[in-house]
Amino acid sequence: MTGLRTDGSVPSQRPPAGAADPAETAPAGAGRPEAHHWPVDHLPALDFDPLLHRLLREEPVARIRMRHGEGEAWLVTAYDHVKEVAADPRFSRALTVGRAVTSMTPHTVAPAGGIGRTDPPDHTRLRRLVSEAFGRKRVAALRAEAEETAAGLVARMIAQGPPADLTRALTGPMPERLLGTLLGVPAADFGRIQRWRTVILSSDRSRQEGDDVKAEIAAYVRELAAHRARRPGDDLFSDLVAAQAAGALSLPELVSLTVMVVLNTLDQVLNQAATMVYTLLTHPAELERLRAEPALLPGAVEELLRFVPQRNGVGMPRIATEDLDIGGVRIRSGEAVYVSYLAADRDPRVFPDPDRLDLARGGAPHLAFGHGAHYCLGAAVARMECEVILATLLRELPGMRLAVAPQDVRWRRGSVNRGPEELPVAW
Ligand code: HEM
Repeated sequence: MTGLRTDGSVPSQRPPAGAADPAETAPAGAGRPEAHHWPVDHLPALDFDPLLHRLLREEPVARIRMRHGEGEAWLVTAYDHVKEVAADPRFSRALTVGRAVTSMTPHTVAPAGGIGRTDPPDHTRLRRLVSEAFGRKRVAALRAEAEETAAGLVARMIAQGPPADLTRALTGPMPERLLGTLLGVPAADFGRIQRWRTVILSSDRSRQEGDDVKAEIAAYVRELAAHRARRPGDDLFSDLVAAQAAGALSLPELVSLTVMVVLNTLDQVLNQAATMVYTLLTHPAELERLRAEPALLPGAVEELLRFVPQRNGVGMPRIATEDLDIGGVRIRSGEAVYVSYLAADRDPRVFPDPDRLDLARGGAPHLAFGHGAHYCLGAAVARMECEVILATLLRELPGMRLAVAPQDVRWRRGSVNRGPEELPVAW
């Protein structure tokens, strides 16, 4: 823990001369607010970040500084402003490459040239290559496999008897199997891929460790691509390898795109689905409601996506390419801007009583998968997997409960994404 005041606010010191990006050290203009130091501590269970909670209400466009990187950035938290920034092409992701924007991790999680750090036309081209694979048609075809996989994994849990760690029994292996189908990754390789995932998505490993592991995973993907070029299969990865051979994307783009899909598939669903189960098991009235009315499930998944704090801190910044106003605040060309989808999803101006879980809430769509051009490519797959996991558990283990007291569940620390380390359940 660092010296965060209880309201989450610690006014920052300005960076030493020459340490920061030129745009960040420009003299403060009139009305430019002082930066909040945001240590991004690793919060347990469903605790919501206190600084996000406060800024959303008091300063929806604020200046922040995190532990790593240089200088300061803007942080936008209100729902409408977040959507405005995420949809505005005057903000660039490509301009973040090579810039040490203030950040929660010592290394940049997303690779340079990766889909998250490109602008049109490169971004549009890369998205087109993969979006069909993650579109409704492919996801509908995957659903049957997901249902069979979940049923098989839960049957094994039942055969082995309680208690079980749900992350090892179901929410971890399920995305692995689907990734195997999507990319044709051999099951024997998952051990090392999972190790790379842990390091890359950690927020407390050194930059060197992050870089070493990124080099290892890139070499692995290049090798897999060479193998698939010789023996193509009927999977997304083979399609991408063929597209690369035809000149539609470069080898580094193929590598970074694949790494992004691998990491997201393995980490996001594991954490999200396990935290959804924890949320339901610790909100018994809502769980009862869902058990009594299973038709609520698709809406319940949306509400859980809104409610569950999936990550620590914020994702990737954007750089303003011209002077503009957001929420009446002047943002200058060259300045870095973060949006918090997490905060937007708790905006009381959009979601009445936002900190309450209400499985029948409806209303405005959540922003858990982002918004605008960089909207999550895996949203349909992730939704489907979470829904299948919850449906299978509700049906097969109607008496499921936590096997330990809620406060004894251990939560991941030092990682970008939040989720339980283990989720012991009984039935
Ligand atoms: C519940 C699970 C998931 C959540 C909450 C989630 C959330 C997000 C968010 C917030 C973004 C960033 C939006 C932005 O940059 O503005 C994103 C981007 C992305 N996600 Fe997901 N994601 C999930 C699962 C997945 C899965 C399973 C995949 C696998 C294909 C995936 C692939 C991607 C990719 C490739 C991008 C970058 C898109 C771009 O920059 O154009 N995600 N996701």
